[in-house]
Amino acid sequence: MALMGTVNDLIDVRVDEAASEIRDLTAGLSKAPRRIPTVYGYDERGSELYAQICDLETYYPYRAEWALLTRNVDAICDRANVKEIVELGSGTATKSELLLKRASAISQVPLRYVPIDVSEEMLRKTSARLADSIDGLEIRPIAGDYHSGLSVVGQQPKASRLFLFMGSSLGNMSEQKRRELLEDIKSAGRPGDLMVVGVDFDKSRSTLETAYNDPPECDLWHNFLTNRLTCLNRAFDGDFNPSVFNSRLTYNTDARRMEAQIWPRLDIKFHLADLNLRGVIKAGERVIVDTSHKFKHDELNELLDTTGMRIMDAHEEPTVKYSLLLVEMM
Ligand SMILES: C[S@@+](CC[C@H](N)C(=O)[O-])C[C@H]1O[C@@H](n2cnc3c(N)ncnc32)[C@H](O)[C@@H]1O
Repeated sequence: MALMGTVNDLIDVRVDEAASEIRDLTAGLSKAPRRIPTVYGYDERGSELYAQICDLETYYPYRAEWALLTRNVDAICDRANVKEIVELGSGTATKSELLLKRASAISQVPLRYVPIDVSEEMLRKTSARLADSIDGLEIRPIAGDYHSGLSVVGQQPKASRLFLFMGSSLGNMSEQKRRELLEDIKSAGRPGDLMVVGVDFDKSRSTLETAYNDPPECDLWHNFLTNRLTCLNRAFDGDFNPSVFNSRLTYNTDARRMEAQIWPRLDIKFHLADLNLRGVIKAGERVIVDTSHKFKHDELNELLDTTGMRIMDAHEEPTVKYSLLLVEMM
């Protein structure tokens, strides 16, 4: 009879972070250029849409990371020799599954997996699937944002940990938040712990804009971006009409970031009743709903260096300038 993994009770820390998320949202919607924080993109539907985007031929970050992991999973696991894998923004964990299977197979003790994600539904689904497919895996899901999830991890007894932060998610935050996050990861771990991080580097505008927009006859990206309005309606008793919005992702070459913008085709009034927040968005006014920074090597080295981390191994997919790095905490 096959042994299965186990899923512990989900720890929900989303209440703790609601106040700061709401502050960011209120500030973001109140002044131009308006912004909706990325975290509002991942309800159940948003997570499903992102998973479907990963299947698009054109979306190289997923394909590159998959290829890099497939080629290097043994080397990474041999180096890491861990008892616990903590994943930030686990999503469907399809790539992480490669690593979990290998790490679990070579571990002398049952491997623990701690997925952290804001999307509770996805977290539950992913945990159940992994428990079905990896014998002996002990799963401790945490529903919450990176910061709150890591503070729970930091309160647990120290173990030899491998952190996973894939999907180029490091690029989805501001420079200050990137630094703060790496510091949070360091505090949750101990010297010698490792992190696998997927990093996307600067490249041509045309490669990026092809990867981050819908191919003909497809509206996955469009639905993924406008779904944020539906999330806000549900969370805060709002009245946005997503169907009057257009969308586009463009590369801001000076800032080296992809900017996901949505804009209404006509002037709209909006009201988020629970936040007592009202406003008018003019026809054509761009609202930024996501960004994805593209790194330079020097910039990344400086970021890791100043947060007390160093690159042990760099696996690169040169055709698309995407890397999977194994990083050590000093
Ligand atoms: C770009 S997807 C990457 C998913 C997966 N790691 C991969 O590589 O395919 C980002 C994931 O992080 C989660 N997420 C986004 N912002 C988050 C935050 N601030 N805290 C925790 N999870 C977050 C989303 O729900 C989503 O599952």
